[in-house]
Amino acid sequence: MGKKVWVTNAAAAAVLGIAGFFVLSQFYVFAPDVGQPGGPVKGLNAEQLRLFYNTKEVFKHDFTVEEGLGPIYDARSCYECHGKSTRYVGGEGRDTTSTSVIRMGNRIGLKSRKPIQEVIDNITQDDWDRLWEAGGPIIGRKSITAEFPEKFPIGCVAELTIVPPGTEFIGIRHAGPLFGMGLIEGIANADIAQNVFKELSINTKLVGRINGQSDLLLDGPRVGRFGAKCQFPNLLHFTSAAFEGEMGITTHLTPFERFSNSERQYPPCLSSVVPPEPNDDGTNLIKLTYYQSLLAPPPRGPITQQSQHGEKTFDKLQCSVCHTPIMYTAPLVKVPHPNSPAPRLWWMEVKALENQPVRAYSDFLVHPMGRELADGLSQNGAKSGEWRTTPLWGLHMRRFYMHDGRTKDLGEAITLHGGQAAEVAANYKKLPQQDKEDLLAFLKSL
Ligand code: HEC
Ligand code: HEC
Repeated sequence: MGKKVWVTNAAAAAVLGIAGFFVLSQFYVFAPDVGQPGGPVKGLNAEQLRLFYNTKEVFKHDFTVEEGLGPIYDARSCYECHGKSTRYVGGEGRDTTSTSVIRMGNRIGLKSRKPIQEVIDNITQDDWDRLWEAGGPIIGRKSITAEFPEKFPIGCVAELTIVPPGTEFIGIRHAGPLFGMGLIEGIANADIAQNVFKELSINTKLVGRINGQSDLLLDGPRVGRFGAKCQFPNLLHFTSAAFEGEMGITTHLTPFERFSNSERQYPPCLSSVVPPEPNDDGTNLIKLTYYQSLLAPPPRGPITQQSQHGEKTFDKLQCSVCHTPIMYTAPLVKVPHPNSPAPRLWWMEVKALENQPVRAYSDFLVHPMGRELADGLSQNGAKSGEWRTTPLWGLHMRRFYMHDGRTKDLGEAITLHGGQAAEVAANYKKLPQQDKEDLLAFLKSL
């Protein structure tokens, strides 16, 4: 008798416990890293938080050949270049070789007949050949047949990109951190455009340009803001291009595989293992986009008297004209719902991203930065010598500076500024030593 009561009570308690846990989990998700680098933005609800941690797994997932990896690729996960072996998921690439992207190209047309130094910073979309037939414009450093030979018949080879002899331009891009990407996405087009007028009114020599693009799939024309040349208008497109370019996984937005063989098609011997095109029906693409959209912005470093003094110099030298200290997100911000019936998109409103300050220290415009920094390669509306004003938030956590990560010395990053910013850089050089140090302390506080 007693035993029966005990069993009934225990069963009831268990049922209540499970039900309680279920109810609680609707309101509470264990999220120790809210607002931290690699963690979610503050203010998400439990559902949004849960989906954030679920989709983080896709970001870290090592994709397989059966899931569409390759035929040529650079890495098996986004994480491999964005944070692996550093402290934070979504962080900076660990070096400037294995986690970089290398692009190549040649001049064509009129500009190919002039000395390189005369035209290097003025090359546009129409002036360069992306070397598709050699597997360009991104150099694939790994191939599925070399990495997974056991999966393919003997003699089956997916050729690596071969840089054709005489290739004129090899451009390196360092993998920056992805913290705060959703806030950047949330800035209205008009607010970025407004920066052009703001710069015109302060100093006409420093005016940047919009890298405008057509984003017909989502909401028509949109101002480019992602990538070192503002070459992508939104995270969905960037992610689809990275999925294809860096990992060889095609989607409906970027449906073409890159091959280095002249036939530009799969060697037939691969077809028993690789999935049909597009490799990803949009399911992973959308999840990856959601995850990045909710990554928290980087926290500030130490603010001291010295850094506060340096901030004044930052303004006085007009660094802040391009490196705009603050912008705001739009009153309504929607991100792709990770459970969308791909390739169709459902949208989710994220209140935590609405009307938020974006202390990125960028105008999200491109500026001509001189011949030393020009890479000879154009992307969409940006010429070879034009670069996005790099967001300076999170600088205290960074290891490599400039688009190619060419220096680890913050002072040198400033003196490398040429083109439009040459005069500002020259004024930095003339500063008394103490003022220079204060300015660097300010940068390290961002
Ligand atoms: C082989 C290394 C590599 C892999 C793999 C990789 N990336 Fe990147 N990523 C880069 C580099 C290099 C850049 C800088 C490119 C540029 O600025 O033109 C970049 C830039 C970005 C940006 C733009 C950041 C900004 O500040 O505007 C986003 C977003 C991004 N990557 C997302 C992804 C996602 C999502 C994946 C996985 C599908 C991924 N990346 C895989 C190297 C990589
Ligand atoms: C004309 C606009 C402009 C002005 C003025 C300007 N910058 Fe920049 N800054 C840029 C651009 C564009 C880049 C990216 C260049 C590249 O990667 O090749 C950049 C890059 C940087 C970087 C490297 C960041 C990174 O993570 O790679 C630092 C640091 C920096 N600027 C600080 C400054 C300071 C300090 C000043 C004032 C002395 C200044 N900038 C003035 C446009 C400007």
